[in-house]
Amino acid sequence: MHLHKYEKWWLVFGSATLVAFLIILGVGAFHNGTHPNQSKKTLDYERVEEFEPFDNPGVHKVEGKKWDYEVVLIASAFNYNPGAIELPLNAKVKFIATTKDVIHGFQVAGTNINMMLEPGYYSEYTTVVNKAGEYLIVCNEFCGTGHAFMYSSIKVVDANATDSSN
Ligand code: CUA
Repeated sequence: MHLHKYEKWWLVFGSATLVAFLIILGVGAFHNGTHPNQSKKTLDYERVEEFEPFDNPGVHKVEGKKWDYEVVLIASAFNYNPGAIELPLNAKVKFIATTKDVIHGFQVAGTNINMMLEPGYYSEYTTVVNKAGEYLIVCNEFCGTGHAFMYSSIKVVDANATDSSN
């Protein structure tokens, strides 16, 4: 079989771009941890508060786990419970969230923390908060008339640099 010179170039170019994109995807997924929500745990979204850990939303220090803090969060139209989150710098944190009604987002602006909260599912994300500051939490899934007003904040506090006015 005879292949034209340009035909060969295109085959090489096509194969090379395929390999390049697979590498980018692989590095993103396996090295940078970018992947869709993998939680297979489900719950009845109309009775969220009856399920652990959503019976006790908030920031909790935990012992004997691979992370130091758990942030348990319930989203509903159009707010987050708890409304404000504070964490110490360099804490390893597991965010566990769900929604009581429609699909909401949980994105911490300027970080890798970005989850879709689906009715009936646990959304979980573990990370280390390694930059002090105050971050905006936004809902990035259109959820209704109050969508644009659905936001909250997260404060990462450096204990060594705090002052009394904190
Ligand atoms: Cu909640 Cu948009």
